[in-house]
Amino acid sequence: MKRRVAVEIDLDALVRNYRRIAVHVKNLDVLCVLKANAYGLGVSPFALALAKAGCRSFGVAEPYEAEELCSTFEAANLKADVQILSSILPDEILPMVERGVILPVTGLEEAHLISDAAHKAGKKARVHFKIDTGMGRLGIPAFGEDGINKALSVICDCLPLQDLECEGIFSHCAMAYDPADPFTSNQIALFKSLVQALAEKGISFKRVHMAASDAVNNFPETLSPPFNTVRTGINLHGSFDPNGLRALNVESVLSLKTRVAQVRNLPAGTSLGYGRTYTLSSPSKIAVISAGYADGLPLQLGNRGFVFIGGKRCPVVGRVSMDYATVDVSNVEGVKIGDEVICFGRCGDDAITPDDWAALKGTHPYDIICSLGSRVLRKTVGTADMV
Ligand SMILES: Cc1ncc(COP(=O)(O)O)c(C=O)c1O
Repeated sequence: MKRRVAVEIDLDALVRNYRRIAVHVKNLDVLCVLKANAYGLGVSPFALALAKAGCRSFGVAEPYEAEELCSTFEAANLKADVQILSSILPDEILPMVERGVILPVTGLEEAHLISDAAHKAGKKARVHFKIDTGMGRLGIPAFGEDGINKALSVICDCLPLQDLECEGIFSHCAMAYDPADPFTSNQIALFKSLVQALAEKGISFKRVHMAASDAVNNFPETLSPPFNTVRTGINLHGSFDPNGLRALNVESVLSLKTRVAQVRNLPAGTSLGYGRTYTLSSPSKIAVISAGYADGLPLQLGNRGFVFIGGKRCPVVGRVSMDYATVDVSNVEGVKIGDEVICFGRCGDDAITPDDWAALKGTHPYDIICSLGSRVLRKTVGTADMV
C-alpha cells in the first residue's frame, strides 16, 4: 500500500551541504556521521550520495551500523573508511577488526583486547584514541588533576602493541553550541596540550579531530592545526543546534508530507480533538490531516504550529493525536480529500523546517529528525545517488 506519510530526503541538497561544509573547513577532511541509520532516515542513500560526492570517511555509533555501512559500500564497489566513534564491547571487537572498521580506544585493557583480536584475525586493527576532555561519557580521561600525564601514559602504553595501527586521536565537545561558555575552550585547550605533549615525545597521528557541527559553527580554532578533520552530522541535514552561531550556509534536506483525510465546515462553538483545547470562535473549514505524533509531529504543534496546504500556511488547531491533526483551512480555496500537506519543507518562498519544530517543542532538531515514526516512508529525491 502507498504510505500516507513520507519524509523526502533531497540528496542533491545533502551533497550541496557536504560541499559547503568542505569549503568552510578549507584544508580539513570531512568525516560524515551517519549513526543511528543516518539519524533515522536510512543510511544507504546518504552514504552513497556522500561517497560519490567525494567523502571517504564515515562515522557510526556501534557495530551493527558499521556492518551495514561496510556492506553498502561493498555492494556499490566504493572504498571508504568506516569508523565507530563511541565504544566497542569485548565480543564485538573481532568481527569489526575482520571488517576493517576503525575502532575507538578508550583504555589500555581495551587496546589489548583489540590488539589480540587483530592478531587472531591476521591483520592490523586501525584505531583512534578517544580522549575524554570533559564530556564525561566515554574515552581516556584527560581532565582532572594530572589528567594530561595520565592520558599520555595510557596512550604511550598502547602504542607498542604490535597489532594496532594507531591512526588517530580525537575528542568530543559537551556544549560547543555556546560560544560564550569557556567550557569548550577549556576542552579544546586540554586536547591541544595533550597532542602537544605527544608531539614532544615524537608521537603524531594521521587524524586529529574534535569538532562536530556545533564546534564547526562556533569554534574556529577547531579548524586549524593540530586538527585536520571535522565530524559532521546534523549540518548535513541542514539543521543546527538552536543556540549558537550559524556560520555555515546549509539548507534543510527534508520535507515531511502527508495528505488531507477529511474536510468539513464546522459551526462556531465546535471543540476540536482530545482535551478540547481549541473551540471554533466562528464557522470554520477544518481539514483533518493524516499524520500525528506517531509519525513524529510534536504535540507542541497543537494550537501553535503550521503546515502548508494548497500553497498556504495553515494553523494546526486542537491537540495533535496519534494518527491525525486538525488544521484550519478556512482561507484556502478548494481543499479536498487526498490533497498534499507539507508538514515541514519548502512551499514557494516560505518554509517550515525541523528546526522550527524543535523551537516549538523546546528541543533540538536531532530529536525531531530521529522521532519520525516507523510508518513514515523514507523517500529520496534528487539525482545525487545516481551519478
Ligand atoms: C563523537 C561524535 N562525533 C560527531 C557527532 C556528530 O554530531 P553533529 O550531528 O552535531 O554534527 C556525534 C553525534 O552526536 C558524536 O557522538
